[in-house]
Parts: sequence; structure tokens; C-alpha cells
Amino acid sequence: MVIIQNSKYLDFLSKLGIGGAHPGGINLTKEIFKRENINRSSHILDVGCGTGQTAAYLAYRYRAKVTGIDINPIMVAKAEMRMKKNRLPVTIMQGSVEKIPLPDNHFDFITSESVLAFVNKPRALKEVFRLLKNGGRFIAIEQTINERLKENEENEIKQFYGFNSLSTEKDWVASLKQAGFEHIRIEENTSIESVPDIHDSDAIEAELYEILDKHSDMMRRYKEKLGYRIYSCTK
Ligand SMILES: C[S@@+](CC[C@H](N)C(=O)[O-])C[C@H]1O[C@@H](n2cnc3c(N)ncnc32)[C@H](O)[C@@H]1O
Repeated sequence: MVIIQNSKYLDFLSKLGIGGAHPGGINLTKEIFKRENINRSSHILDVGCGTGQTAAYLAYRYRAKVTGIDINPIMVAKAEMRMKKNRLPVTIMQGSVEKIPLPDNHFDFITSESVLAFVNKPRALKEVFRLLKNGGRFIAIEQTINERLKENEENEIKQFYGFNSLSTEKDWVASLKQAGFEHIRIEENTSIESVPDIHDSDAIEAELYEILDKHSDMMRRYKEKLGYRIYSCTK
């Protein structure tokens, strides 16, 4: 079995083709973007786009010019398939959010939905900042710990999910400021439930279902400590 980024969890998500793989799913995404001033001339980038559900929605709903980038080739193939099937002119790229081969000051909006905990956060935020136009908006739905964890808890979570870092709200604000962002707004919305969107691969190893069980177990055990926030800010 090929493990991408040492994360069996991400391998599981890609093989099962889970779209909207962030808290609140596509319904929360819709709510958040409703408040932004998006139109058909807006350039939007979805970093860590997964199977492309958000990118497809933004292109369909707002006729915006949307690009999605993801490091995982299975996610990329599923996102490309989604755009082809729905005849949406969305550009899907394979690559890392830590180094994106696109010009400076290009996007009006950049979004990341449950991505930045998996990567080198300072490098990724520097790229996001570089790619945004002045006045452009970065909107992130990202995993956030509600309190500092014990070392063994932190190790267990990082190892299972393949997280690079676990950040509190305060850590996020510091990282965003460090990258240069301003007008940082933080929200917690736990009332919107996610809806499953699955595009599975033909052969799914039984082992991957064990990952689902372990994920459910982790969510139950750490439900008070592992949360998420919506961060929005401006360049
Ligand atoms: C939890 S999934 C979320 C996917 C999507 N944003 C969604 O909400 O459905 C995390 C995604 O981040 C991608 N990812 C992880 N590391 C990445 C990196 N360095 N650059 C780009 N994408 C990355 C994974 O391949 C995966 O698709």
C-alpha cells in the first residue's frame, strides 16, 4: 500500500474519495463564502483541495475562476474527474501548498479546509500570502486544539493523522500575523453538520476500514480537546 505523506489517514480519505473532508463539510463552506464578495471575475485558489468539492461549488455557484492544488495523486485524479463530469473549467494541479508554482499577487481569495495541520505551516502561510493580491482574503477552516495536550496525547494524535503540528487559537493567530496577515477574525461554528460525499476507488484494502474505526475512536476520546475554527484574514 502506498502511504502518502506518512499518513494512513490521508491515504484512507483519498481511496474512499471523501469530499468535504473538513468539519462542517460543504454546508459550512457555503455559509462562509456567502458573506464574501465573490463574482465571475474573482480568482480563487483552494489549497489541499482533496476531491474538489469546494472548488467545484465555487466555480458553479459564482462562475469564479477557480484553481485547486493537492499533493495526493488520487485526490487530484478524483478532483479532475469531478470537473470533467460536471463540465467545470476548474484548473486542478498536483503539488504542495508549501511551494506553489504560480505568480505573486494573483488570487482574490485563497481557502484551506483541514489542510494546514498536515504541512509545514509557516512555509504554507508564506506561500498563501505571496499568492494573494493586496486586499485579498484568506479563509481557513482548520483543526485547532482547545487546550495544550499531554505529550503522549499529542504524539498519538500526530502519529495517527500525520499532523505536522497541533495549534491552539493563539498559535494560529501568531502564525497568521507572522506571515503578514491582518484583520484576523476567528469563529467557532459547531452547529453545521457535514454531509458525506464519497467517490471511492475500486480496490479498497480492508486495512483502510480499520483506520475509520480508529478515527471514530480518536474523535470520541479527544472530543473536548480537538476542535476547529474558521480563520479569515486579509493581505
Ligand atoms: C483532510 S483532507 C481535506 C481535503 C479538502 N480540503 C476537503 O475539505 O475535502 C486534507 C487534504 O490536504 C492534502 N494535503 C496534505 N498535505 C498537502 C500539501 N503539502 N500540499 C497540498 N495538499 C496537501 C491531502 O492530500 C488532503 O487532500
